[in-house]
Amino acid sequence: MTTVGSIRGDFPTLAEWRHFNCGGMAPMPKSVGAELLRVPTEVIAHGPNRLLMHEEEFLGIETARENLARFLGADADEIAFTLQFSTAVNIVVEGFGWKEGDHFIVTDQEHPALLIPLMNAARRFGLTYSRIPIAEDPEEMLASFDELWTDRTRLVAVSHVTTDSGTRLPVKEMTQRAHDRGAKVLYDGAHSVGQFALDLHDLNCDFYTLVGYKWLLGPYPSAALYIRRDQLDEIEVTWSGSRATKGGSVTMGTEDIEWIDGARRFEYGGQTFSYHTGMVEGMKYVEALGIDNVERHARDLTTLFHQGLADIPQATVMSPKNPVEATGICSVKLSNLSGVDFSKALRERWNVVQRPSLWGTSVRFSLACFIEEENVNELVGYIATLAREGA
Ligand SMILES: Cc1ncc(COP(=O)(O)O)c(C=O)c1O
Repeated sequence: MTTVGSIRGDFPTLAEWRHFNCGGMAPMPKSVGAELLRVPTEVIAHGPNRLLMHEEEFLGIETARENLARFLGADADEIAFTLQFSTAVNIVVEGFGWKEGDHFIVTDQEHPALLIPLMNAARRFGLTYSRIPIAEDPEEMLASFDELWTDRTRLVAVSHVTTDSGTRLPVKEMTQRAHDRGAKVLYDGAHSVGQFALDLHDLNCDFYTLVGYKWLLGPYPSAALYIRRDQLDEIEVTWSGSRATKGGSVTMGTEDIEWIDGARRFEYGGQTFSYHTGMVEGMKYVEALGIDNVERHARDLTTLFHQGLADIPQATVMSPKNPVEATGICSVKLSNLSGVDFSKALRERWNVVQRPSLWGTSVRFSLACFIEEENVNELVGYIATLAREGA
């Protein structure tokens, strides 16, 4: 069986770069590249006939949808592939049926890809909102959650795993509390899908959005939306097109609109199909490694990283240390360098790919399945050098 960490040959770019930015954009394994090129290669050689005939098996989209749904603990008709992550967010947020004065809850560490569609909705529909402070202790976050609740709260829209600190939120409890009070939940799964096993039916969330180009090792951009089956008709279709309805003709009128049954109604037009199947090819790669092995590997590397950093007095870990909240994302602050200078020096001096935190103070490292212990030890050495000498 393949050992997680010993698969570096599948990622040609690792010969050139020390890659710690899976949480930004992952390097692609060769199999994903091959899937991306499969249909265009056939079209170049033989023309687009099979595409024009809508041969689903040729495109592989429906099989990909089933595979992704199984991986997420969902059903295929609850999955819509989307061009971008924010497309998935906008489908829910714009079709939510807000009333002026409604309230939603986010955290104080949301990525703009989730936050901006929500802020736009707040402006357009006259909504109010509150931000839960991210804390290492889940009980503290749940206490803020209860405190910020109002009788107009209708949606909780938060990261399952936050983008900078990589904190895992207590989503099971949040879902329960929101549902008990008649509200819905939308989780941003950009950093959870591919990091650890998910069972969306068990989580019972209403909506879940994800990207393919991070922990799923797929292409950029690629994304998907999960809508729990009983929520499909609750979300108003705001954008539609030739593939959204059951019938449809050049003479159709408003009375003829009947949306197709599943979440595919939100795809509504021509698709970037190679990106969808490429994303699922990445998912298959992760699945073959074993998602629990991937999670365990990240946990081991995180422990090793924290231990190494503990010997660097200028370094502070800005991510949870408790294994229940910790993930493969680890942000580090150096007291002698800004996040931007720290990031630049690592990239320029040692080809280490990572990114400064969105707040500019620290650097975010992603400890993914293709990273080995020796890579982490090397990284600690570089950080120690910068702590001693500056950039
Ligand atoms: C938490 C989170 N959500 C969503 C996204 C997707 O962002 P984009 O719209 O740039 O694909 C990212 C990307 O970094 C992210 O970190």
